[in-house]
Amino acid sequence: MSVQKAVRRITAPEIAARKGVEPIVSLTAYHAHTAAIADPFVDFLLVGDSLGMVMHGYETTLPVPLDLMIMHGKAVMRGAKRALVVVDMPFGSYEESPQVAFRNAARIIKETECGAVKLEGGQRMAETIHYLTERGIPVMAHIGLTPQSINVLGGFKTQGRTRDQWQLIEEDARAVAGAGAFSVVLEAMASPLADRLTKAVPIPTIGIGASANCDGQILVMEDMLGLSPRVPKFVREFGKVGKAIERAIKLYAQDVRSREFPAPEHTYDVKD
Ligand code: KIV
Repeated sequence: MSVQKAVRRITAPEIAARKGVEPIVSLTAYHAHTAAIADPFVDFLLVGDSLGMVMHGYETTLPVPLDLMIMHGKAVMRGAKRALVVVDMPFGSYEESPQVAFRNAARIIKETECGAVKLEGGQRMAETIHYLTERGIPVMAHIGLTPQSINVLGGFKTQGRTRDQWQLIEEDARAVAGAGAFSVVLEAMASPLADRLTKAVPIPTIGIGASANCDGQILVMEDMLGLSPRVPKFVREFGKVGKAIERAIKLYAQDVRSREFPAPEHTYDVKD
């Protein structure tokens, strides 16, 4: 009989209950291996549609298909056993109607077995958030800079830099909380606005380029590891993984060219 203890996974209601208790730690993850490394240290992992840019070389997140999100969602679920896994709904998979959103969110939940989905938009998505949560799908909202609206926003622009923009953004935050979202990502917005929203809503705010006073923080893992060629101003590189990879590959190439690899300890001899 197996004596392995089952690891219980963190749930969306547990994340919601962390408001005002202890900062929520999160990162994006796209594959099983990095998800497994991050799992003991984070509360949730987001399979963000940023994977289109980070892993697949697109200029924006707009081309990312639902099937790709599901494939990466499955990989992250196989790697992480403890953290809540949230999978992004990609552009075009939820905006049309609450019914279309439900159909696609249900596919994500059934096929990946993740614990929640995330979608972008404030007031305009409130009805959909309500529809999904009423039908058993926990939703993380995402307001401020919403990369799927890049063509309307006119670029990856910080939001709320002037106070006249604040009221609409605050209405977005209140609308998604009122609709039943269990938390809300605040992306690239003026820090005093993020502080104000964090006080205004009863659900945890998860900042990315927002404020240290948010209820939690998220970063794109490759950005904070020092693996991305360009990062926004708000990213701190906690590692230099890109440089380490480059050094290792240079050494390997040198050793292959000088026939020092494979050395005898890396080769197999005959047994007789
Ligand atoms: O897609 C993503 O990685 C995200 C985070 C930046 C919050 O939405």
